[in-house]
Amino acid sequence: MPEAGFYEAVETRRTVRDFLPDPVPGEVLERCIDAARLAPSSSNLQPWEFVVIRDPRARAAANAACLDQLPAKTAPLLIAVVTHRDTWRRNRNEILRVFESRGPMRRSQAAYYRKIVPVVYTTGPFGLLGPLKRGFSRLLSLFRPTPNFMSRADIRVMAHKSTALAAATFMLALRAEGYDSCPMEGFDPWRAKALLGLPRGAEVNMFLAVGKRSDKGVWWDRVLMPRDWAVREL
Ligand SMILES: Cc1cc2nc3c(=O)[nH]c(=O)nc-3n(C[C@H](O)[C@H](O)[C@H](O)COP(=O)(O)O)c2cc1C
Repeated sequence: MPEAGFYEAVETRRTVRDFLPDPVPGEVLERCIDAARLAPSSSNLQPWEFVVIRDPRARAAANAACLDQLPAKTAPLLIAVVTHRDTWRRNRNEILRVFESRGPMRRSQAAYYRKIVPVVYTTGPFGLLGPLKRGFSRLLSLFRPTPNFMSRADIRVMAHKSTALAAATFMLALRAEGYDSCPMEGFDPWRAKALLGLPRGAEVNMFLAVGKRSDKGVWWDRVLMPRDWAVREL
């Protein structure tokens, strides 16, 4: 049996571009962020960070970085969803620490996090090792199934994929709580990065304007591509 609550949240989530001024209660925000933290991520490395922008001056600068889009200007809350390529070692160590605290680790778990993850995430000075790793994977793949050992650009894609899943989970959780959101990638990435004080290996994945929709919040009825453009059987 389908879960009515889940499908209702999926179907009623819309991009909202005009919000009521009502604030988002702290406990709602916490529940939604905790739901987002359960999203799947590559190697479970959870490369995300949700930056809740509260300071009025930072908020004005963030609105400007979001090109003063209406959702940013009208939402009671603005969140930057950040993707980190620079936290893999810390997070890998945390995974190992938790595994070890639970008792003897499986050999495959230990080998995966101690050996394979560093190989994937290490791209050498200026990322120069990356193209070699990628080229080597491509060559080997001519002879047998081979994973991509990843260049810097591949790692960036990987981290953004996982972060976007957390952002999607967050938006659906908000909807389940009766709140709305607008995901925004229309922003100035350099200004956004400087504003949030992000290190080199981090960048904004998307901004999320959050609040309750006004009656002008949804700009048009949904437009869906034909089903057979989206689904194929092989
Ligand atoms: C990654 C991403 C970036 C987006 N960026 C913007 C944006 O900058 N401004 C905006 O108004 N809408 C933005 N949208 C919203 C899309 O236009 C919207 O999801 C799409 O039109 C489908 O409408 P719906 O979300 O109401 O189903 C973005 C959506 C996604 C997923």
